[in-house]
Amino acid sequence: MSTVSNQDFDLKRLVAERQDERHDLCRKYLNPLFVKTLKAVGFDRHYVRGQGAWLWDRQGRRYLDFLSGYGMFNVGRNHPAIKQAVRDYLELDDPWKIQMGATALPGLLAEKLLEHVPHLDRAHFTNSGAECVETALKFARCATGRERVIYCDRAFHGLTYGALSLNGCQSFREGFVSFLPGPVSVPYGELDALYDAFQKGPVAALIVEPVQGKGVYPGTPSFLLGAQEMCRQFQAQFIVDEIQTGMGRTGKLFSFQHVPNLEPDMVLIAKSLSGGMVPVGAVLSRQSVHEKVFSRMDRCVVHSSTFGQGGLAMACGLATLHILFEEGLIDNAAVQGERLLAGLTTLAKEFELGHEARGQGLMLGFELGRPQSLSLRTAWSLLHAADGGLFPQAVIMPLLDRHRILTQVAGHHLDVIKLLPTLTIGQAEVDLFLQALSEVLEECHRFPGPAWTTAKRLMKYATRHNK
Ligand SMILES: Cc1ncc(COP(=O)(O)O)c(C=O)c1O
Repeated sequence: MSTVSNQDFDLKRLVAERQDERHDLCRKYLNPLFVKTLKAVGFDRHYVRGQGAWLWDRQGRRYLDFLSGYGMFNVGRNHPAIKQAVRDYLELDDPWKIQMGATALPGLLAEKLLEHVPHLDRAHFTNSGAECVETALKFARCATGRERVIYCDRAFHGLTYGALSLNGCQSFREGFVSFLPGPVSVPYGELDALYDAFQKGPVAALIVEPVQGKGVYPGTPSFLLGAQEMCRQFQAQFIVDEIQTGMGRTGKLFSFQHVPNLEPDMVLIAKSLSGGMVPVGAVLSRQSVHEKVFSRMDRCVVHSSTFGQGGLAMACGLATLHILFEEGLIDNAAVQGERLLAGLTTLAKEFELGHEARGQGLMLGFELGRPQSLSLRTAWSLLHAADGGLFPQAVIMPLLDRHRILTQVAGHHLDVIKLLPTLTIGQAEVDLFLQALSEVLEECHRFPGPAWTTAKRLMKYATRHNK
């Protein structure tokens, strides 16, 4: 038997030798426009290490990560217990996927998840968030025999065809021709519009994010409870997408748990269930729905995927839940989230360009607004007439460049900066961020000034390259 040693394949050496080619490789084989965009906004850094809430670049400079991989690092990057779970799993020499055979880890993770959502009975594991959405759509349609699914304006549920059919942002759909028949969108938070949609014909499901990721809009308890009631009345499945809001992000394990008596028929989980290490998602559902899908012995795997219930993924899921509770990260998200929101609210009041701060736990948005004074207002209007999505870039760019804090814009054509730090941050990181944002906002109020020059430069760049 031949063995492959490290001399034959040395991953560390490969990375060390070729990491400087990262942009060239991406440009050549993956996505040249992505590299161009990174360069345009100054995000083309060379990060070489990540730990907890922090990243380090090649020069040894430290960056505070308030983006956390779009919410996949709730427990922080490279958490030692996640790494240990991976190592332990590898040492088990587990047969892993037998396919025609059951192993213990998926059952153990399902047991743990359902312990926290006791009104649901079954877990179905997937490999991504979008795959959870596809699963939920299939389950709901199969259980009800109906086609129509209601979703909300501004919704984001992923980019596969089913999930894309429920995307509240038209630009994601552009060019992809046709979509799932039946979805109907309603304004988020508006129960009257929702009722109208229900009355127009039989509905399989309503899918909502308890806090919308695009723009960071928290759903009110009355909207979520009203939506649930309508689902019950019209016998539709009430699907809550916790892919970003879940795993402690909002100060509860799941955001829907902030609202007493909210008991969704399906809960979708992904992103941070992975411990930031191995992709995994889960759809929690009721037994009654599950039995409609897996209805006979010859249908016992009618919905499945080769890598679903993967051993490494299950190990990371179990370790993540352990860390969240053991380290008090969910409570920490609530405490630090409140501090951060209070600080952001003060900045929104203090600065002319500040409009509003909102969110839940450590999923927060800072919305910029049209200024009052003549020069700023004119510049703002001109810029927004040319491109509605550029100004927040002029805020996140100096946050990274001068303050070494990584953030993101909360969606296309929105003046909202989104904050999704790891749940491991403390008062020091909150203070650091607020101080940095305050300094950047101060600069934005200087016209002419560097922020406006940057925005103008981006506008020219976008005009040139989007032709
Ligand atoms: C609320 C929500 N649902 C679904 C998805 C899709 O998840 P994935 O990117 O793992 O397919 C995302 C991803 O950002 C999300 O935020």
